[in-house]
Amino acid sequence: MEKREELYRGKAKSVYTTDDQDRLILLFRDDTSAFDGRKTSQLNRKGMVNNKFNAFIMQKLEDAGIPTQHDRVIASNESLVKRLNMVPVECVVRNISAGSICRRLGVEEGKDLNPPTFEFFLKNDELHDPMINEYHIASFGWAEPTHVEKMKELTFKVNDILKALFLQGNMLLVDYKLEFGLYKGQVILGDEFTPDGCRLWDKDTREKLDKDRFRQDLGDVVESYEMVGQRLGVSFD
Ligand code: TMP
Ligand code: ASP
Repeated sequence: MEKREELYRGKAKSVYTTDDQDRLILLFRDDTSAFDGRKTSQLNRKGMVNNKFNAFIMQKLEDAGIPTQHDRVIASNESLVKRLNMVPVECVVRNISAGSICRRLGVEEGKDLNPPTFEFFLKNDELHDPMINEYHIASFGWAEPTHVEKMKELTFKVNDILKALFLQGNMLLVDYKLEFGLYKGQVILGDEFTPDGCRLWDKDTREKLDKDRFRQDLGDVVESYEMVGQRLGVSFD
C-alpha cells in the first residue's frame, strides 16, 4: 500500500490517499484539541494509543454486525480505511448527563438518562458544531432521510454493544459521538472511536478517564486512555 498526498488535516488526525482509490490512510497524530480547536496540546504516544484503541473497538463493532470503515492497522499510528463520502453530521448518544447538555439544559452532571438521549450536531468548528435536527439535515441535503434513519439505528446499536464492553472493564459509557459516511451507497461507521470522542467513567469512583482529563486539566491524559484500553484487553506493545 503506497501512501500518496495528504487529503485532509483534522485537529488530531490526517488523512492520506493511497494507490487504491477505495482506501485511505488515517494517521493518528499526537495532537490533541478541545473546545473547537481553542485548546491544543501535543501528548506523547497519543497517536499510537488512539490508533490501537480505535482498531480494537472497530473490530468489536464489526464482529457485532456494525459496518465500519476500518480495514487494518498498518503502522503504530496509522490505519488503512475504506474511503467514504462523509456525512457532515455528528451523532451523539448520552447515557448519563455531562458536558454540553448540562450547560444547555441546566441539568446537573451525572444524572442517568432513561432512555438515552440522541442529538445531531453539524460538523463545523467555526459555528461551534451547532445542534441540528432531522429537518435541517433534509432541508439542506446533508443526508438522505433513509440514511439518517440508518445512522440513528446504528448509533443506538453501538450503544448496546459498547455499554456492555466497557462495563466488563468496570467503566460507564457516559456519552459518545459517531460520524458516518457512504461507501458504495451503504451507510458505514467512519472516523474513530477513542477516548477523544466519548466520556468514560470508572464505575465505582466515577473518575473521568476520557478527554475531559485534557479539557479540565486533570492530567495523565494518555496514561488514562491506555488504562482504559488495558481494562478492555487492548495491547499497546
Ligand atoms: P458534548 O457534551 O460536548 O456535546 O459532547 C458529547 C460527546 O460527544 C462527548 O463525548 C464528546 C463528543 N463530541 C466530540 O468528540 N466532538 C464533537 O464535535 C462533539 C459535538 C461531541
Ligand atoms: N467539537 C469539540 C472540539 O472540536 C469537541 C471537544 O471539545 O472535544 O474540540
